[in-house]
Amino acid sequence: MTEFDTLIAGASVVTPHGQHQADVAIRGERIAALLEPGSDLDAAVTVDGRRRLLLPGAIDPHVHFENPSWGTATAHDFQIGTEAAALGGTTAIVDFAFQVPGESPMEALGRRRALADPKVVVDYGLHGTITDANLESVEEVRTAVEAGYPTIKVFMAYGAAGWMMPDDLLRLTLRQVAEADGMLMVHAENDAIIEQARSACVERGDLGPGAHARSRPAVAEEEAIRRVLTFAAEVDCAVYVVHLSTAAGLAAIEEARARGVRVWTETCPHYLVFDDSVLDEPGGERYVMSPPLRKPSDREALWEGLRDGRIDALGSDDAAYTLSDKERDREDFREIPNGVPGAQMRTHVVFDAVARGEMSASRFVDLACAMPAKLFGFWPEKGQIAPGADADLALWDPALVWAAELPHIHTNIGHTCYEGRSFRGRPVQVWSRGRLVVEDGALRSRPGAGMFVARGRLASNRRSA
Ligand code: URP
Ligand code: ZN
Ligand code: ZN
Repeated sequence: MTEFDTLIAGASVVTPHGQHQADVAIRGERIAALLEPGSDLDAAVTVDGRRRLLLPGAIDPHVHFENPSWGTATAHDFQIGTEAAALGGTTAIVDFAFQVPGESPMEALGRRRALADPKVVVDYGLHGTITDANLESVEEVRTAVEAGYPTIKVFMAYGAAGWMMPDDLLRLTLRQVAEADGMLMVHAENDAIIEQARSACVERGDLGPGAHARSRPAVAEEEAIRRVLTFAAEVDCAVYVVHLSTAAGLAAIEEARARGVRVWTETCPHYLVFDDSVLDEPGGERYVMSPPLRKPSDREALWEGLRDGRIDALGSDDAAYTLSDKERDREDFREIPNGVPGAQMRTHVVFDAVARGEMSASRFVDLACAMPAKLFGFWPEKGQIAPGADADLALWDPALVWAAELPHIHTNIGHTCYEGRSFRGRPVQVWSRGRLVVEDGALRSRPGAGMFVARGRLASNRRSA
């Protein structure tokens, strides 16, 4: 019998601090050893890693698979969504459990687990989510944190959809999350500003997809971030601002950090590629998401923040809708389902910058693997290549150039907003707890083989981890 199941030989192993050649041995579900290259170990399978980068499996802390919304549901189910993630080198995702009115957050979490378990091809977790904002929901926060859902998501916007949390409950939730030692995730947009701007658009007959951006100005994001961080400071609650889209929002976060507020943030691939001009072009409805696409100067500020570490992580915010769902109400921006796919492209958009020499591979590993593992309670089992860690690994070929076209994009919605763009670098092999899920760039996964992860608490002190 061979001592190891898989040996990945001679790859350049990337950590947040640098990269070095090593042989990586897998036994069962874990990394068994890191050895000098040329170790000549006895393994059942040896993979040639030369000229390739070996990265920890990436973690996507923000997806919405088969989520009922806008009178329909997101089209990527837990199988297609996790398959798409795996193709992009992502080996753990965290989805949400929106409450239906009258349901408790814990009931919603149980319902989502039953849906996900038979379908996921990589490991997953769930965020507790309050979309039925009332005292009983808020009082369940501690139970959720202790049950392996240490991150609780709330919405400061979407009043019309009934998901919004008013300020009094928001302050109470922050207190509950702080006392339970969890982390609040927040969709930060000021709903009143949005409502006012929406009415103005409607009054002047500005109803196309471009009005979606005009009705959600940057100040709505900035103000909500400032407000939630002011409340968070009162009770020293850890906060994670999801889908940051503006330079002004980033400045608000930096100012709060300077005052000692424990706040982290992510941006999403679409804000790094597109600006709001696409919304006024034919097919603009495909690019409707919230917060909306912004100005080129915001895009540049987000890249800058990602590169220098002021933005900590990357979430896909995968919320895929079929073309018919997107196009049905394209004459009225208020009815267009909000969201775009991204589970696969999240890593590619940023790895492309690595392959072009615009970002170090180490920075990529920190923001896509290590930091989300620490922030979302997966560390030390996930997010790093170390003996004893889960064998969640992605072997990237940085020289491969490919076009984001449908055969390469795994989706059931028949389109991608990245259509025709070319990207450098692709994972050729991906392992999830030692199982090969992508081989030679193609799926080899099995629905249900992924596992629910009951997550622990935040394991990161700002910048020192
Ligand atoms: O437009 C978006 N982002 N849809 C998904 C729900 C959310 O706000 O994250
Ligand atoms: Zn959101
Ligand atoms: Zn989202």
